[in-house]
Amino acid sequence: MTEIIIVDNEAKAGEIYARCVADLIARKPDAVLGLATGSSPLTAYKALAATVKAEHIDVSHVRGFALDEYAGLDPAHPESYRSTITRTVVEPLGLTPELVHVPNGNLDTIMDAGCEYDAAIEAAGGVDVQILGIGTDGHIGFNEPGSSLASGTRIKTLTQQTREDNARFFDGDISQVPTHCITQGIGTIMKARHLILLAFGENKAEAIAQTVEGGISALWPASALQLHPHATVIVDDAAASRL
Ligand code: GLP
Repeated sequence: MTEIIIVDNEAKAGEIYARCVADLIARKPDAVLGLATGSSPLTAYKALAATVKAEHIDVSHVRGFALDEYAGLDPAHPESYRSTITRTVVEPLGLTPELVHVPNGNLDTIMDAGCEYDAAIEAAGGVDVQILGIGTDGHIGFNEPGSSLASGTRIKTLTQQTREDNARFFDGDISQVPTHCITQGIGTIMKARHLILLAFGENKAEAIAQTVEGGISALWPASALQLHPHATVIVDDAAASRL
């Protein structure tokens, strides 16, 4: 079941996410959060940080699993997803760093890393709430068009479009953007108990229309959400403009 919530602005979307996750942590102190990078979730993370502080919610037992990581990029690089999650989630929320996991993009071990990551998520009891952004081509995590809807965590090749979109984080220089990544699969993401996808702006409108109203197809990876028992899509007017 996909529920659509159209909000006036990102701040409202952030409040909805923050309320949902703060209530979860209050009920389940060792809740498992699925974390995403990209600009779309940033306001939601800020809202959650403000809520847990204002309501004195203990987050020291909260666990986290990030969606993806660049392959072959030093985790200490400021644009690695390990660094990004530390800066945007772990530090502002005050999470325990050892409880927050990011896929290992080390090229020497990457072939085994995906299965190990999925096993770790299962051993943690699965993800309670997975936050998602969406690429302009409908990708979630780094599951580019054509990704199997049943896929697990694995190495993938980044499309030219995604590398161009992400060049802004690498001094605008596409040659610095890694060519590969390790990403949770669509099958992995679909196992989370609640998905919350956030999208803002006109450039996401086509991807949102395909996600919500298009046929279910690997050509628009996020369309798999239509099969999820509890998926919430929160969009602003611009991202909803083709619905
Ligand atoms: C990257 C991330 C995705 C994210 C997408 C959109 O490709 N791997 O998880 O959803 O960017 O990013 P933004 O929210 O900045 O538009």
